[in-house]
Amino acid sequence: MLVSPEIVAAGTAAAFLGYSTWQVAETFWESWRHSNEARQRRLDHASLAAAKIEQARIEGVLKSPYNAATGWRQMVIAETVDESSDCRSFYLVDAAGEALPTFIPGQHLLIQLPVDKHGRKPLRCYSLSDAPDPRYYRLTIKRVPVTKSDVDRTKNGLSDYLHTGLREGDSVLVKGPQGHFHVDPNFKGPLVLMALGIGITPMISMLRWSLQSHPGREVYLFFQVRNSEQHPFATILNKWRSERSEVKVTTFYSRPETHEVKGIHFDETGRFDVTRLGPFLPSARSKYYLCGPNEWMMDFEKQLIIAGVDAEDVAWESFGGDTPAVVPASQATPNSDSVTALHSTVSFKRTEKSAVWNQEHKSLLDLAEANDIALESGCRSGVCGACVVKKLCGKVKYTKSPSVPVAEGDILTCISQPDGDLEIDA
Ligand SMILES: Cc1cc2nc3c(=O)[nH]c(=O)nc-3n(C[C@H](O)[C@H](O)[C@H](O)COP(=O)(O)OP(=O)(O)OC[C@H]3O[C@@H](n4cnc5c(N)ncnc54)[C@H](O)[C@@H]3O)c2cc1C
Ligand code: FES
Repeated sequence: MLVSPEIVAAGTAAAFLGYSTWQVAETFWESWRHSNEARQRRLDHASLAAAKIEQARIEGVLKSPYNAATGWRQMVIAETVDESSDCRSFYLVDAAGEALPTFIPGQHLLIQLPVDKHGRKPLRCYSLSDAPDPRYYRLTIKRVPVTKSDVDRTKNGLSDYLHTGLREGDSVLVKGPQGHFHVDPNFKGPLVLMALGIGITPMISMLRWSLQSHPGREVYLFFQVRNSEQHPFATILNKWRSERSEVKVTTFYSRPETHEVKGIHFDETGRFDVTRLGPFLPSARSKYYLCGPNEWMMDFEKQLIIAGVDAEDVAWESFGGDTPAVVPASQATPNSDSVTALHSTVSFKRTEKSAVWNQEHKSLLDLAEANDIALESGCRSGVCGACVVKKLCGKVKYTKSPSVPVAEGDILTCISQPDGDLEIDA
């Protein structure tokens, strides 16, 4: 499904007509979504809006919603599509209808929700789940249910909020695309994509991109979900598999319902491992991409290497979660595990605050938040790079290796601890 030009035009019309996107959410988009009878009227409206936007662009009146200094872009949720019982796709368009920067399939965006009353900005990372298209970015987000009624939205429950608190027409701030987990654009051989659950999102992007840009190149997708209720993209994957001989999809249901039939709803039952996949895997040198729970990926990578796959042909992305964040063997760097100083003073230069570090804090990010110092963060596990700050004086130790490159003099606050007194540019 593509975002229609009239939807894009209508989104951009919001900015042009001078409404805040929140106002527009209350008016235009509500009718857009619910009223079929008004479709023709809306199309006319959208064409008119598109013409006005084009005119505004020619005249240089339209202000870009992209802030080059911060890298944040205001985007409008043009459309949402439920992909399964708990996964929803969000089609985001630039709030002024500008063409979007391209990305390498596998990369992700940082998404920022409205700033709370304390000025804190809740951030999360989401993989782009469609092939690059200058008209829109698509994210597909699994709702992680919120159990506590008094959930602190600035810290957790963001996916729940995205599902329940935002509607078509609302706006979000987005940074990126970014990330080092992506296809190797120079590699022409087969791709082997392995996904568990919501780990499918970067794989869908890679698969669609390959079909568009490298027709005929074999792409193997091994996808494990619980059952058809939690099987996002089932329709499009079946379509690609039946129409394109280069697409080889094998779907595993770990807990199929009694009415679900092998060969119709899914291909295999249980969990997949390298032994089970052996007969399906290509014999030619291939690139392997994994996305799922951390422990599963670590184990799978080991199994692939034992089966003869070169470590540099395996890449994986951690979405975070309860298990410790880890990095692929191919990206691991030596890391210190020594104990940090018991009491150090950390100075935050820009906010002109200082705080005493003790072992109760897991990271510099934790320390900052405990002292009401707002730092940007995303994955909180060294994956996205959102929490980077400049180290001005002193030393830090990492609790785990960063899985993004960190420039000399920079530190990732989510996985670092002070090693003695420290001053940072925050
Ligand atoms: C690079 C990257 C790409 C990502 N891409 C996607 C994507 O395409 N789609 C998507 O839905 N999510 C994706 N995520 C995960 C996403 O960023 C959030 O972590 C997720 O939406 C949960 O956020 P939350 O605020 O709802 O949950 P939180 O309030 O942070 O957590 C609630 C509970 O759920 C657990 N939890 C949080 N995240 C996960 C997880 N990923 N797996 C298992 N348990 C979890 C927590 O430990 C906690 O117990 C990605 C993460 C990274 C780092
Ligand atoms: S918050 Fe993602 S790297 Fe620190």
